[in-house]
Amino acid sequence: MTGTHAPAAGPASTGPASADAHDAARRALARCDELATVTAVPGRTDRFYLTPEHARANTLVAGWMREAGLRTAQDAAGNVWGRTGTPDVPLLVLGSHLDTVPDAGRYDGPLGVVVAVEVARRLAPRAAELPFEIGVVGFGDEEGARFGATLLGSRAVAGTWDPAWFDLPDAAGTTMREAFVAFGLDPAAVGDAALDPGTTVGYLEAHIEQGVRLEDADRPLGVVSSIAAARRFEMAVLGEARHAGGTPYDRRRDAALGASHAVLEIERIARAAGAIATVGRLQAYPGGVNVIPGRVELSLDLRAETDALRDHVWDLIHDVLLARCVRLGLRLVVEETHRAPAVPCAPGPSAAVARAVTSVAGDVAPLTLFSPAGHDAMSMAALTDVGMLFVRCGDGVSHHPDESVREDDVALAVDALEQAVLELAGLAGTA
Ligand code: HGY
Ligand code: MN
Ligand code: MN
Repeated sequence: MTGTHAPAAGPASTGPASADAHDAARRALARCDELATVTAVPGRTDRFYLTPEHARANTLVAGWMREAGLRTAQDAAGNVWGRTGTPDVPLLVLGSHLDTVPDAGRYDGPLGVVVAVEVARRLAPRAAELPFEIGVVGFGDEEGARFGATLLGSRAVAGTWDPAWFDLPDAAGTTMREAFVAFGLDPAAVGDAALDPGTTVGYLEAHIEQGVRLEDADRPLGVVSSIAAARRFEMAVLGEARHAGGTPYDRRRDAALGASHAVLEIERIARAAGAIATVGRLQAYPGGVNVIPGRVELSLDLRAETDALRDHVWDLIHDVLLARCVRLGLRLVVEETHRAPAVPCAPGPSAAVARAVTSVAGDVAPLTLFSPAGHDAMSMAALTDVGMLFVRCGDGVSHHPDESVREDDVALAVDALEQAVLELAGLAGTA
């Protein structure tokens, strides 16, 4: 298994985590290591929605939730839940996602789930004191790696599921509807996963930063202000497949030429505008070494701090790509596969997280940062007030096996998430 284990400790963190927190951190990191082995591809971590690996991860996490004193269940969208079961009070949700990108690291998603389990373990014995029930969730799909649409688990919980998703096929042609049934779920019952906004008081998510700002500032924890506006596209540049030797340049309609210009123009436009755009997948067809590509498929992941900037940059990119294709005698086909508005974290939970970071990590003014990475909190904001706690990660590396965190920082994250819950409960400082 490749990948880096969390170093025992980086530079000393600023605030002393509680003694229990170091045990909790070691347990949490060991569980992230164990989850990393629940994969479709031995030797790397690939765990996608509604697959046998997803089912195995749910079983593993449900066992940890029961050890923490929680009542477990799987909801109608395949999310795994552990709840304290306090009757007749509203619900506070803690959690993150259990699915991964292909060849993933071990902390993007799972760290937020296992840290939430540690906090619930601490607070389950105090459940009667809290004005809300605690529900820990491991969402089944945030990355969208299998079907293209993303945030599926949290959108089901938020009640914003789109039935059109059931017709989306995976790479093997299996529709999401078929995958639901194979997983033991009833597509017609997916609405049962939705929580009632009237009895849900908030959602808190701990997540690795997937950036370098905490590390550059030498801070273990940070508070998320808002989450990026995003749009994703599948594009195809269409030309003519022809003989690589016999076709003169002035007779070519080379799709690879158009796609190559597209990649360079996308980066130029996004950088100039202060947005973030990535071509993560690019494939030339028919793919013969001696054949001019007649078709090139490329993906586009576009993000910005605001919806307006996101849409303005897309318009610029689309216009430039279209003009370039016309000049080269090519066609451009575009399909939008995902769109999510920028989501501000709510004042209440964010203030609770900030006070918790101050009390735990000694940050008089905690670093507050915008998240260019998407998170389940984006979906959950349609249901309830959301707050996010960022945890420093090594060199900002994520979506890669070299993802790493520091044990000390995870210990502080357990203490801080517990403190944030107690702040929301009006029990600050009673940990
Ligand atoms: O793509 C993202 O920002 C997230 O990791 N799903
Ligand atoms: Mn991710
Ligand atoms: Mn994530």
